[in-house]
Amino acid sequence: MAVDLSVSFAGVQFANPVFSASGTYGHGLEMSHFVSPAKLGALVGKTVTRRPRPGNAPPRMAETPSGMLNSIGLENRGIEHYRKEVLPTLRGCGTRVISNIGAESIDDFAFLAEQLDSEDGVSALEVNLSCPNVGGGKLPFSTDCRNAEAAIRAVRERTRKPILAKLSPNVTSIAEIARAVEAAGADGITAINTLLGMAIDWRRRAPMLSTTVGGLSGPAIKPVALRMVFEVARAVRIPVVAAGGVRCADDVAEFLVAGASAVQVGTWNFVDPTGIGTIVDDLERILEAARVASVRSLIGSLRSPAPVRFEQADALVER
Ligand SMILES: Cc1cc2nc3c(=O)[nH]c(=O)nc-3n(C[C@H](O)[C@H](O)[C@H](O)COP(=O)(O)O)c2cc1C
Repeated sequence: MAVDLSVSFAGVQFANPVFSASGTYGHGLEMSHFVSPAKLGALVGKTVTRRPRPGNAPPRMAETPSGMLNSIGLENRGIEHYRKEVLPTLRGCGTRVISNIGAESIDDFAFLAEQLDSEDGVSALEVNLSCPNVGGGKLPFSTDCRNAEAAIRAVRERTRKPILAKLSPNVTSIAEIARAVEAAGADGITAINTLLGMAIDWRRRAPMLSTTVGGLSGPAIKPVALRMVFEVARAVRIPVVAAGGVRCADDVAEFLVAGASAVQVGTWNFVDPTGIGTIVDDLERILEAARVASVRSLIGSLRSPAPVRFEQADALVER
């Protein structure tokens, strides 16, 4: 039995639901000597900003049990370089390209959206809301409904391309932010970005990262990501793209059942740079063995889940 791996959402067809996650796969072809990009459902670029950014000082990565912390600080060479030097190399790469944009102001989000709107090779924009907001009362776009909504609305007004709003898990209610970006015109939601964390070298009495705190990713965050994808998928009508701790095909299938329409692989690319290709092959194999004819039939197929009142869940869980 051949398994149909294709998924389609926001008006775009993808050959399979396995995407690279922003910032873990270069901008595009850096990983092509490990895995052919044609193997992936989509290549998601690292966040590009209006102007070049040097990122944070090292050390800006630290290994933790079942995960890693990073505080790269959105290092990139800016939109002009991205358009002139990166996007042309991606033409004909054999898969969909999703450009991820980040900004510290509404104006810059609008500018980036407009710059990419005319780029034929870009199938969708992923808007990284986990960026500091220089205006707007200093609350980041990711943690405040009004700021998140304003950023997505600004992007919506400047592009006809599908928009994925990438959400932060570092909020009280991810469902509220999800509903806000849906109302602002997002075509889909990517969940989740990294969880705030910290690591200490106690002998030096020093934090492991130059920024003291950083973003936790990898298998350690998968249960949190799974819960948030499930929660977001129930809160909105637009599709959800999952990210968080994926390292094998079973993880992908779990996220699909929780409600994701596609699944990104991030930190695992550092552990096994060929792993994302194996995940695609294994997905086909495990679905065939389970007699699942199409990936689409798995999406949101969790059987009779107990009703969860997420706003009360913390109090209800016994511990
Ligand atoms: C080193 C590193 C760099 C990242 N850079 C970005 C980035 O530039 N933009 C972004 O939206 N997410 C970035 N992320 C977050 C990932 O795209 C992903 O949402 C997160 O790591 C959870 O997935 P994972 O556990 O599979 O890594 C980065 C993650 C890591 C580990």
